[in-house]
Amino acid sequence: MKEHRGRLTKDGIRIYEPADFAGMHAAGALAARILDDIADHVFVGQTTGEIDRLITKMVEDAGAESATIGYKGYQHASCISVNHVVCHGIPGDKKLKDGDILNIDVTVIVDGWYGDTSRMYVAGKLPRKAERLIQVTHDALFKGIETVKPGKTFGDIGHAIQAYVEAHRMSVVRDFCGHGLGRVFHAPPNVLHYGRPGTGAVLEEGMFFTIEPMVNLGRPETKTLSDDWTAVTRDKSLSAQFEHSVGVTADGVEIFTLSPGDKFHPTYSS
Ligand code: MF3
Ligand code: CO
Ligand code: CO
Repeated sequence: MKEHRGRLTKDGIRIYEPADFAGMHAAGALAARILDDIADHVFVGQTTGEIDRLITKMVEDAGAESATIGYKGYQHASCISVNHVVCHGIPGDKKLKDGDILNIDVTVIVDGWYGDTSRMYVAGKLPRKAERLIQVTHDALFKGIETVKPGKTFGDIGHAIQAYVEAHRMSVVRDFCGHGLGRVFHAPPNVLHYGRPGTGAVLEEGMFFTIEPMVNLGRPETKTLSDDWTAVTRDKSLSAQFEHSVGVTADGVEIFTLSPGDKFHPTYSS
């Protein structure tokens, strides 16, 4: 039987024990370290398939497990979403071109705990418009994270992200959201990246979830390609995403997927 920890709130959100934070930190640190280490392998002419093979090996070498290989039929250790791909890009043999921006999303399982994080990379020279998009998306994630503490609501998180993004005349994707995680990959609640203050479930100490806003330079609508995974912007505009796994503490938040090399934000260029 599946191991259960803690208790469930009336909204079906699991409340973990203080001792469970250590497991999440271990899983989150590995996912983040892999994203640090992959940075040197992102360059013009590289394929997303090769990046994914390297990630697969890093997960194996760490003695961990990929959460995405075999998940609903997905066959890769990462999702790699280039330019107008919003999320769930499938690694393949297309070569990165100068000025391409890409999100790499990795989820690992360490001792049964899930660590899920993604960030943006660039091949070659970062175009000015893409730089703005990446900066706003990164800062929007932190607007959401800064909102997290007991007594706030999930609507407060969504509102903080949406208000920030729309103030910069960009749009928040509605079709995908963050999620509870812990001993499972995807659990309640749906963490929306838009919303109204004071709505939704109330945050409590011991909740673990991701915040992972997707932001488009154009309109928010997406469509999923015939491979049933790749989500793209309908208007072909550029899209960016950053994701952290976090836990609610007595007085705020802990980020489980902090970059050990402080490489979360792509101010560097490969
Ligand atoms: N890591 C993604 C998330 O943030 C989920 C990817 S599922 C996959 O929730 F199957 F596409 F890999
Ligand atoms: Co996630
Ligand atoms: Co993810």
